[in-house]
Amino acid sequence: MTIDTTFMAMTMETSKALATVAYIAAAVLFIFSLGGLSNQESARRGNVLGIVGMVLAIGATLFGYMSGGFVWAVVAMLPAIAIGATMAARVPMTGMPELVALLHSFVGLAAVFVGFASYISPGVKVLPSEALIHEIEIYIGVFIGAITFTGSIIAFLKLKGSMSGKPITVPGRHLLNLALVAVCVWLGTMFCGSPDHGGLWALLVMTAIACFLGVHMVVAIGGADMPVVVSMLNSYSGWAAAAAGFMLKNHLLIVTGALVGSSGAILSYIMCKAMNRSFVSVILGGFGTDGGGGGPAAEVEGTVTEFSVDDTVDMLLEAQSVVIVPGYGMAVAQAQHSLAEVVKILRDKDKEVRFAIHPVAGRLPGHMNVLLAEANVPYDIVLEMDEINDDMPSTDAILVIGANDIVNPGALEDPNSPIAGMPVIEVWKAKTAVVMKRSMAVGYAGVDNPLFYKDNTHMLFGDAKTNVDAILSKLRG
Ligand code: TAP
Repeated sequence: MTIDTTFMAMTMETSKALATVAYIAAAVLFIFSLGGLSNQESARRGNVLGIVGMVLAIGATLFGYMSGGFVWAVVAMLPAIAIGATMAARVPMTGMPELVALLHSFVGLAAVFVGFASYISPGVKVLPSEALIHEIEIYIGVFIGAITFTGSIIAFLKLKGSMSGKPITVPGRHLLNLALVAVCVWLGTMFCGSPDHGGLWALLVMTAIACFLGVHMVVAIGGADMPVVVSMLNSYSGWAAAAAGFMLKNHLLIVTGALVGSSGAILSYIMCKAMNRSFVSVILGGFGTDGGGGGPAAEVEGTVTEFSVDDTVDMLLEAQSVVIVPGYGMAVAQAQHSLAEVVKILRDKDKEVRFAIHPVAGRLPGHMNVLLAEANVPYDIVLEMDEINDDMPSTDAILVIGANDIVNPGALEDPNSPIAGMPVIEVWKAKTAVVMKRSMAVGYAGVDNPLFYKDNTHMLFGDAKTNVDAILSKLRG
């Protein structure tokens, strides 16, 4: 060995050691990032920590682990960065769930590609004693990746409205799913241990079956239950990434994938609890269709009473305690800033004003909290549904802004409703409620809302921002 080659070998070893340290630092930053994201006051810091961790991870991979292929890496990364940044900058807040679902599909597809590449030409040294483990990692990684890929695309199409939110089910679908999983297990036994890439056919057939399973599991889920599906696919995408980490022997990818996988699973569990759904049924797919007693949803009857802006202002001025329930329509109308002004005026008049936030209000977890934080609404008056629901009977006035499903009494009263069993904010128990929306149209779950026909409920029709602005100018005037 010449001095030159010895020096080069030492330099490579040093940069690998540095990269390992950078990987550990990045993993710690990701953990702190997740911790920060769990609370809206620290969410910004959480985001910054995540970005720093990711830059560190990419730098360490490029300069510490890769010994060639830089041009390919740059050719792949630059357009991806440009496309990602443009998409993120352009997407409206209301379009975030679709974007997230689409991004999950990319993680799934990447795991499938990494799996095939690792099988055909392993980028890492695999000892003969590790061959079986490596094949199992590939097989499981491709399986989860393929389900995540197609499942996320269907979720994206449903959330975007390009596909109906209605569940599409075939008779005996659970048995069919089970049979397909059994076939995949059998194919796995064919795949593992086949010499000279002889298991490629089994891997290909399993990928096709897993792609079908992803579609089949998500098309069977009704629109109202999509939030849980998105967080479940988030979890799957994490496990797919972790599997890719095992295939590539990349410890950071394993840690990151496990963090995403487990946090997604925890979020799914929390959302299942919030929506009163069974966690196991969600994981198995298609749970949203069996809800209810099997019969048609109850017909909604009664008379609707309308309120004007003046009536609404009078109600607010007479009330001592006011609760505001924001929903998806507030996000569409971007009414949060004017609303924050209204709240300030009412609080200056010594009224108790609080927000009631349903766990699935809007279209993504924490949607309403983000909008209210953006409008500088004080955190201490923004309460979760469980914290405030018991106070409804002692509340004078409720302002429902662009919310529908989350205040639907049918969820508690009609066992045949598609949202039967989902806890809702019980606004009808208050003295008076005003619902601000543009028409009598249904919400995301596509069900009529008996709330609108209750004696103590009045409708203020029109765009939420226009009406909140009108309320604001009356209060100021
Ligand atoms: P929705 O039930 O979707 O109701 C929103 C209402 O806002 C609509 O009925 C609509 O009525 C009204 N609206 C729309 N634009 C408006 C505007 N410019 N001004 C005034 N009103 C407007 O929303 P929600 O009550 O927040 O419930 C959320 C639903 O989305 C649940 O079913 C949930 O399962 C689902 N979902 C949630 C998530 C997450 S994670 N949060 C993700 C996906 C789906 P008009 O058309 O009559 O105005």
